[in-house]
Amino acid sequence: MHDLIKTRRSTRKFTSKEIEDEQLNKIIEAGIWAPSGLNNQPWKMATIKDSGTRKSLASLTHYSSIIKGAPVLIAVFLDANLSYDHTKDVQATGACIQNMLLAIHALGLGGVWLGEILKSKDKVSKVLNAPENLELMAIIALGHPAEEGDKKSRKSVEEVVFLNN
Ligand SMILES: Cc1cc2nc3c(=O)[nH]c(=O)nc-3n(C[C@H](O)[C@H](O)[C@H](O)COP(=O)(O)O)c2cc1C
Repeated sequence: MHDLIKTRRSTRKFTSKEIEDEQLNKIIEAGIWAPSGLNNQPWKMATIKDSGTRKSLASLTHYSSIIKGAPVLIAVFLDANLSYDHTKDVQATGACIQNMLLAIHALGLGGVWLGEILKSKDKVSKVLNAPENLELMAIIALGHPAEEGDKKSRKSVEEVVFLNN
């Protein structure tokens, strides 16, 4: 499990090979099993394969090549109708997204959490015909990796733990 967490890297280039629906369902199910305050499960998702829709979304972000190059996108929303505490619900949605990224990695696929597109979140909602109660939290781009993710480092435990009482 520790290896799975540590070997996950963001993948930004994908082959043209499609993702099977069974795999996509497994990934979404991993997201659904994330913890949430009061188990309110405040997330909603849209899966996007259509190249025309991906092209429209690509025009709304600096990371257009990732959006265009990924065979599947998962847009993750927070549903205001299910929300009880905005901060906690945003945190839960983050846990949901990370669960999906780990599931993508466990399946031998690659993915990346795209947040820059949030600057255009209202336009994304229009493109996807999302109801007004949904607020975009992130888009995950995923597919079969065409390259290894960048080597990344992390801070040490000592740098992060400020109190060891
Ligand atoms: C909230 C959030 C927003 C992010 N937004 C973007 C993004 O818009 N574009 C992108 O290429 N990567 C984005 N990333 C991925 C980070 O750049 C990446 O996770 C970080 O550099 C660590 O690299 P790693 O995932 O390979 O370990 C985002 C990650 C998070 C958690």
